[in-house]
Amino acid sequence: MQVIDTILAMREWTAQHSDKPVAAVYTMGALHDGHLELVRQARHHVSANTGAHPYIIASIFVNPTQFTNADDLAKYPRTLEHDLEMLGSVGVDAVFVPSVEQMYPTGHANTVTVEPGPLGNEFEGVGRPGHFRGVLTVVNKLLNITAPNYAMFGEKDFQQLTLIKAMVAELNMPIEIVGVPTVRDSDGLAMSSRNRRLSESSRVLAARIPEALIAVKESVVRGNPIDEALNAATEQLAETPEISVDYLVVTDESMHDVLANGRGRVLIAANVEGVRLIDNMAIEIKGA
Ligand code: PAJ
Repeated sequence: MQVIDTILAMREWTAQHSDKPVAAVYTMGALHDGHLELVRQARHHVSANTGAHPYIIASIFVNPTQFTNADDLAKYPRTLEHDLEMLGSVGVDAVFVPSVEQMYPTGHANTVTVEPGPLGNEFEGVGRPGHFRGVLTVVNKLLNITAPNYAMFGEKDFQQLTLIKAMVAELNMPIEIVGVPTVRDSDGLAMSSRNRRLSESSRVLAARIPEALIAVKESVVRGNPIDEALNAATEQLAETPEISVDYLVVTDESMHDVLANGRGRVLIAANVEGVRLIDNMAIEIKGA
């Protein structure tokens, strides 16, 4: 596995590896099995679609422009040695680990950015203005630098995945964006680098978040109206004072509208004793 820390060397590596498809997995490090699943699914997806084993590029870069809180950025866990070991263990071919100066040579106040449009200001964008502009701008840069045929993103961050798909489609980028289902711990909690901030007792309570999503899904399957299902799950969560729900909604798959019929998503954001967690699940409504 090659570790590459300059844009020039990264471009040279891609140019020298043009005999097979290239798939990319972009991360901010502090890796867990959810990240490794993106690597496994990259190999699986490309092999199934093309018959060829892809080269796999991963990146580790804690992107300052997507943080709206300096303290969050400073406290973001950095575990590079361990991350590299993990990526090596799943057969990544090259890891791009650029410095902030490489990625933002003119400083953070770069003036050309990728605007996410109205969805960027909803849900995860409400409390973090500019967050998705930072995400789309850095993902655009990473796609330009690593030039993959495929790029894998987790459904865990469903709004991020939706906006990246929209960027690639609307800006005519020749890359297939592949969504990977959320990897969960045995109690159902979605794996996240934030979970390590939970105290032992909050960790137990946090499992009620995926339970609420399942309750909404099951209620809707039984034929209850969405509002009723959402209200019941909200009331259920309100019985745990340590959990405060930020939003619990059902949208269509593009996250533009509330879902009336067909496939969509139920999404939640909640604070568990000060740690903000997000999760979502697919939902299907067979309405009138
Ligand atoms: P990060 O939070 O490190 O996540 C990197 C990728 O791993 C994202 O595509 C995310 O959705 C996926 N992921 C995280 N937890 C997962 C889980 N439990 N199951 C499946 N996939 C999971 O998301 C980012 O970094 C950044 O915003 C980035 C896209 C790298 C841009 O800076």
